[in-house]
Parts: sequence; structure tokens; C-alpha cells
Amino acid sequence: MTLRASRRGLVPPFIAMDVLRAANEREAGGADVIHLEVGQPSAPAPEPVLEAARQALKSAQIGYTDALGIAPLRKAIAAYYQAQYEVSVDPAEVVVTTGSSAAFQLAFLAAFEPGDRVGVAIPGYPAYRNILAALDIEPVLIAAGENAHYQPTPELLTDVGRLDGLVVASPANPTGTMIHAVDLARLAEYCCERGIRLISDEIYHGITFETAAATARAYGKAAVIVNSFSKYYCMTGWRLGWMLVPPDLARSVECLAQNFYISPPALSQLAALPVFGCRTELDAHVGRYRQNRDLLIGTLADAGLSRFAPAEGAFYLYVDISSLTRDSADFCRRLLAETGVALTPGLDFDPVDGGSWVRLSLAGATEEVAEAARRLADWLAG
Ligand SMILES: Cc1ncc(COP(=O)(O)O)c(C=O)c1O
Repeated sequence: MTLRASRRGLVPPFIAMDVLRAANEREAGGADVIHLEVGQPSAPAPEPVLEAARQALKSAQIGYTDALGIAPLRKAIAAYYQAQYEVSVDPAEVVVTTGSSAAFQLAFLAAFEPGDRVGVAIPGYPAYRNILAALDIEPVLIAAGENAHYQPTPELLTDVGRLDGLVVASPANPTGTMIHAVDLARLAEYCCERGIRLISDEIYHGITFETAAATARAYGKAAVIVNSFSKYYCMTGWRLGWMLVPPDLARSVECLAQNFYISPPALSQLAALPVFGCRTELDAHVGRYRQNRDLLIGTLADAGLSRFAPAEGAFYLYVDISSLTRDSADFCRRLLAETGVALTPGLDFDPVDGGSWVRLSLAGATEEVAEAARRLADWLAG
């Protein structure tokens, strides 16, 4: 008898991870690779984090914790909102999660029914629409191009019909564009008035080059705020994130978390306790990302690629390659095979126009980024 596999499980791949696998295979075969495809800092977590982990291994039982996270970490996260945004947050609103990736599953399940319609910007982070689809929630693609600063606006939302939710990210992946405070306030008000649940992905907060990012929590408690220790805090592999949960969703998020994964990793939570005190070291990385951004923009412009999304934050450059090709997947494959430089095709972020774009990560060491830019420029010239 034939066994069935579910339709819901048939989500598209996260292409950046597929490129990473191809790049790793090439590396394992002895070839050199410069990784500009993955969105993760090359720097390790700050030393106080590593030391806290060592101490925890010596002295603490690494057991399950409260499903919502350990109390001192929830308190430290709440205090961060006061220090960073002058917004008062009760530690009871804070839910520590297994990366922000788990927070999306919890938030989408707690807030939406199967068949609900949730807006996501295109270009945008692919996991939003793929997780929504796996949960039988309809991702509604909002084409947010250059005129809209690559971000959803109330005007764009009115064009897509009924929405039950909206996911925004500022700074965004892959574009690095931001929704500045007045626009975020307008968007939050628009959503609140129409019963649209706003989910604000604030994972790239801290990595901004011109102005600091605004939190949607400043405009009320109705939005779900998602954040993570992965990016600014350089803790991707520790799999630790958090969310601020509106009162009406708090208990269901707690019960979902208990049942889905019992608790976030205890070792990572103990390690993260000192990280809010490591801003000097972490801000130095942000300085490097800015330097990498400027360097890449200069080299690519000299090589004839001069249309980018304005990267105000995060650590990516989203580059228009339509003057060369409309097949970004083939472009990235050939570039990797012929130069060892790994990039992500725009198709990951935009199923409609992504063939004309590629994403470069700026999160590596400046020498590596400079070498990758040089190889890319030579390849384009040859
Ligand atoms: C915009 C955005 N949100 C969420 C994530 C998920 O990160 P994590 O699960 O490590 O917190 C990523 C990772 O690349 C991302 O770019």
C-alpha cells in the first residue's frame, strides 16, 4: 500500500541553505570558497558569553527550564527595552525561544487560523511565507519595490484585499531597508484599526548604519515582537531568540512552547545573560559591516552593477543584476563554480522578480569581502 506524504510539508527550499550545501561540498573537495551566501556573523559570541557558558557547564545542571525561559534572562530582555527604546516592558511579556525561527511558528499558530491571510513583503525573508504555508495560512505577497522603499505601506496593503496579519522586518533581509519610526507608527495604527495582527521581526536591530531602529512595541501591545540573539549578538548557533507577546496570546504561546520543544536551550540562556553588556564589542562588528557595505558598493559600481536596495541596516547588499541576466540561480551557480564566491540568488526572497537580483552578505571579515568583490569584478570583466 502506498504511504501518503503531506501536501503541507512540500514547502520550497530555503535556497541560501542549498547554496551553502553546494559551497560546503566544494570546500570539502579542497577548493576554496568565500561565503557571501549565509546571513551570519563571522565573529564568535563575545568572550563574556563564552565564559558564562564555561561556568554554566562547570556549575549548573543543564536541564529543562521554564518553557518561557529563565527569569533572569526574561528580566534582562525587558530591561533592554527600557535602555534601548525607553519602552517599559514587563518580564512577563517576554518569551525566550529557540531562535526567532521558533518564535514565528508560535506566533503564527497562536494568532492565525488555517485559511487566514497574512501579508509578507516581496522581496522578503522566505521562511515567513514558507512557515505560513506549512501551517495552512495563506501568505499574501506584497510587492514592495523601490518606490515603497522595499517595505509594506498602508497604501500597498489596501491593494491586496482582506488581511488577518502582516509580517514586517526593519531592517529587512535581503534589502537592509528600514521602516522609520513615523512610518512604523502609521503601519501599526493601520493594522490595529483593521484587526490585522502585526508581527514585527526586529532581529536586525542594533545593526543599523544611519538611524537606530524603532520597535513596534512603542506603539502598543497588540503586535507580536520577534527578536533574536543570532545577528547583532553573534550567537546564530546558540539557537536563542525571544518574543514580546500580547496579553491575549500569552497563554496559548506558553502552552504551544511547552508542547513543541519544552524549553529553549538552558546552556544558551545562561550564556546569553551577560550579552547586553557587550555593546562596545558588538558595535565594532557593526562598524565593520558598514565598511564592507561601502567597499562592496564601490567595487560593484566600478564593475557596472550600480543598482542596490539602500542598505540602511542588517548585513546584506541586494543587487540588481538584470543588466546581465534574469536567471540569478544560474548566475550564482556559475560564479561559485568559476570563482569560489558563493552568493544567494534573489529567487529565495522574491519568486516573481528574484531572477534579476542577488544577495551578498557583508557579515564576514573585510579582507574576505574585498577578495570576493575583486573576484566578482574580474569575472564580470572577463
Ligand atoms: C529576517 C530574519 N528573521 C529571522 C531569521 C531567523 O533567525 P534565527 O532563527 O537564527 O533567530 C533570519 C535568519 O537569517 C532572518 O534573516
